[in-house]
Amino acid sequence: MKNYDIKDSTLDEEGKLRIDWAAREMPVIKLIKQRFAQEKPLKGIRISACLHITTETANLALTLREGGADLILCASNPLSTQDDAAAALVDYGIPVNAIKGEDNETYYRHIITALEHKPQITTDDGADLVSTLHKEYVDYSHNVIGGTEETTTGVIRLRNMAKEGRLGYPIIAVNDAQTKYLFDNRYGTGQSTIDGITRATNILWAGRNVVICGYGWCGKGIARRAQGLGAKVIITEVNPVSALEATMDGYQVMKLIEACQIGEIFITSTGDLNAIDAAHISQMKDGAILANSGHFNVEINIPALESLAKSKKRIRPFVDEYTLANGRCIYLLGEGRLVNLAAAEGHPASVMDMSFANQALCVEYLAKMRGKLEPNVYSVPEEIDQEVGKLKLASMNITIDSLTEEQKNYLQSWESGT
Ligand SMILES: NC(=O)c1ccc[n+]([C@@H]2O[C@H](COP(=O)([O-])OP(=O)(O)OC[C@H]3O[C@@H](n4cnc5c(N)ncnc54)[C@H](O)[C@@H]3O)[C@@H](O)[C@H]2O)c1
Repeated sequence: MKNYDIKDSTLDEEGKLRIDWAAREMPVIKLIKQRFAQEKPLKGIRISACLHITTETANLALTLREGGADLILCASNPLSTQDDAAAALVDYGIPVNAIKGEDNETYYRHIITALEHKPQITTDDGADLVSTLHKEYVDYSHNVIGGTEETTTGVIRLRNMAKEGRLGYPIIAVNDAQTKYLFDNRYGTGQSTIDGITRATNILWAGRNVVICGYGWCGKGIARRAQGLGAKVIITEVNPVSALEATMDGYQVMKLIEACQIGEIFITSTGDLNAIDAAHISQMKDGAILANSGHFNVEINIPALESLAKSKKRIRPFVDEYTLANGRCIYLLGEGRLVNLAAAEGHPASVMDMSFANQALCVEYLAKMRGKLEPNVYSVPEEIDQEVGKLKLASMNITIDSLTEEQKNYLQSWESGT
């Protein structure tokens, strides 16, 4: 029986070229792939991976397969799939279940196909695969050695599952590796969010009032890039420390309801529900653009936007114009789904190199630790995080100093002071 479902298999050649292009920017993954080819640390292990189906993910998938894994993929978002990358992977013999623009029913059907692979390791981005497994295929969880989770929102969901005693196997929070969030969330989301909004709208950023909801790792990256393009950046936050940080980083900080009087472009990256709600939308100026870069399409209250609107029209790819009863037009990008993957190509390969190096090494670690970890959410082992940093730096031809024996001893001591 066919175990894949993609849009168009004739896109495979285009996909292969783009996968190779991404590979040029992924030297760390390349090294891991070469070692996996020799050592086969994942021999015969069934992996179900629910990730954004992009050219970078394709390079991760090929690396895991090189390590001996028996792999199936599905999308972690209905609008993030690159159909050519999916076609290329299928041609390479890796089943993919993902079509850009698939409806919710197809999205979950694809997740179920991936689960029917009876995974021994799950690789997830947002925890939809893991939560479906625990809700509908809980018996399968007994065969799972462990899992990895790519993003902040997924880690939050998994920690909540663990707290309720519902998590059936150990999961490594790849998101929380320093070589992931400091680079992927900050520089990756920063650049690609601006890219997605620019591709969708072709707006000029210089001189624009840009409101960013959430000053976490993603928000920091988006703010810095928007400012670099000449935008006047306003931050909204709910955490006093993050708000203070934004203030001292030089941004204006205020309540969102006040920012609505000023803002021209609004970007959410909070991981939270209804960060932009009906009351905010009603206050926005004519022509306001709304985009989300958080994991789920819940950060902008779209049902509220729909009910405030008297009409809706798609005016460009990924741009929907809502005309409100008050006569103002509000533009929603990418149906409120993560704009960097919906309207652009997601993070640049160079940054995914580090995120996916963590993924590959954590999958290998789980295979080695089979049976030794209790069901819980674990940090990426320090050695893996350091190794990824070391390899990336080496690939950039950057060398750094190392501690002398005297310095190591000093840093481990407490006796000597003033
Ligand atoms: N688009 C992408 O490619 C991509 C990449 C990485 C992460 N993400 C997603 O982006 C989201 C943010 O990730 P992060 O790593 O920056 O998380 P984070 O936890 O570092 O930051 C989130 C920030 O949002 C703030 N916040 C929460 N609710 C808020 C509200 N109602 N209004 C204003 N601020 C609020 C929090 O106080 C926090 O400072 C998550 O959903 C994550 O999964 C997306």
